[in-house]
Amino acid sequence: MYICLNDKIFRLLSEVVTTENVRAYVIGGWVRDCLLKREHNDKDIDIVVVGSGMEIARKAAKKIDPRIKVTIYRNFGTAMFRYGEYDLEFVGARKESYDRGSRKPVVENGTLRDDQERRDFTINTMAISINEDTFGEFLDPFDGLSDLKNKIIRTPLDPDRTFSDDPLRMMRAIRFASQLGFKIEEKTFSSIAANAGRIRIVSGERIITELNKIMMCNHPSTGFMMLERTGLLRIIFPELDNLKGVEKKEGKAHKDNFHHSIKVLDNIAKHSDNLWLRWAALLHDIAKPATKKFTAETGWSFHGHEFLGSKMIPGIFRRLKLPLNDRMKYVQKLVDLHLRPIVLSQEEVTDSAVRRLLFEAGDDIDDLMALCEADITSKNEEKKTRHLENFRYVRKKLKEIEEKDAIRNFQPPVDGTEIIETFGIKPGREVGIIKNTIREAILDGIIPNEHEAARRLMLDKGKELGLKPVKKLPSDKH
Ligand code: CTP
Repeated sequence: MYICLNDKIFRLLSEVVTTENVRAYVIGGWVRDCLLKREHNDKDIDIVVVGSGMEIARKAAKKIDPRIKVTIYRNFGTAMFRYGEYDLEFVGARKESYDRGSRKPVVENGTLRDDQERRDFTINTMAISINEDTFGEFLDPFDGLSDLKNKIIRTPLDPDRTFSDDPLRMMRAIRFASQLGFKIEEKTFSSIAANAGRIRIVSGERIITELNKIMMCNHPSTGFMMLERTGLLRIIFPELDNLKGVEKKEGKAHKDNFHHSIKVLDNIAKHSDNLWLRWAALLHDIAKPATKKFTAETGWSFHGHEFLGSKMIPGIFRRLKLPLNDRMKYVQKLVDLHLRPIVLSQEEVTDSAVRRLLFEAGDDIDDLMALCEADITSKNEEKKTRHLENFRYVRKKLKEIEEKDAIRNFQPPVDGTEIIETFGIKPGREVGIIKNTIREAILDGIIPNEHEAARRLMLDKGKELGLKPVKKLPSDKH
């Protein structure tokens, strides 16, 4: 079978490898996605050379444009360069590639077949020749094409061997299965379950890259179910694994918070591609096990789980090698606030409660509302409709109050400098007290969010604190 390689780049490479008299093939993700007619996200092209990948990379770059910079990864025996929108990676065909106990590759030259069999999955072993005499020839010794058609993830060798070569592949199997909607073949799946503990030798950075790819799938819950069933979840993310299970006391049961959390994640995934909003959805109930209580009168409660959950996030982010910056703070904020719109919708919606929510959520209010709607996973249609209606009402109130009071990006109408200058005081406790009084009065609706009213309150509060204005007050200031 021959496959049409249309891109100009393959013709250019073909000339180089033919002149150099080495065999070379396109292999891996590019071939897989080309056969799947799937847009390859990052335009990576992997070329395997029976010979030195580094040398061919240098020669190819020189022929295409001598100014191209080739990056060499000597440890891995690979070389790469960028050409237009493509990242081309060259590797020499290898035999055994990894040390047991680490994933440091031991490079030993091999044939194309050697190289194919040491790859992760049959669908990633398919190769296409780029030599002139066999240009486009399809080489598929492990019948990856059938697995592609039947939507199956399978290792080319005994899975124990493939996973022991690089245990990250266990995560990759699950990632590919959830990204492509494929099934992991039974033996491959059992081997992941048997070898799950080996994931411990893989770096956190590599694990989180795969986990984030699972997070970004259309139905991330499929991936998380597989992580759970293979035992990987318990090792890489015990806090999430702890959410599993239903307890029943005196005829009252609480829901399974693991299944609930991944359902909320699926719901938000339909609505948004924001990875961090997805993380907030996954983690919103993370502190439920730690706050779980049962009393005969009230049944199950998880009092304060939103607050404790937001406190658990830095620890989880640090361990998972997620960023400890404003993205983490965003997730913390959403977890902390995730019950507020629900509480609001259940009580009489007062303007002041809406103002406070707008003040705390700021620009993230829309994401928070989306998270709360995703949080409705009840199978009871009537209950679901009622919640959604309540949220519609909360949204309407949020809009009304925002239009009237502009609280979302609250800037105090009287700032610290004005307080300091008015009373001729140094920055200190009093400034804070006056600023707080003004903010609280605005949020409670006692004064409007306007300078004149805020200034009057500042003067009253100053007086109460024993402060006197130092200069005559120009009534037209501001
Ligand atoms: N590969 C492997 N084992 C790994 C990583 C990669 O065998 N742990 C092989 C596979 O043949 C894979 C190729 O190297 O197809 C390229 O790897 P990579 O770029 O990580 O993945 P892609 O298959 O290109 O898929 P994606 O871009 O979606 O990650």
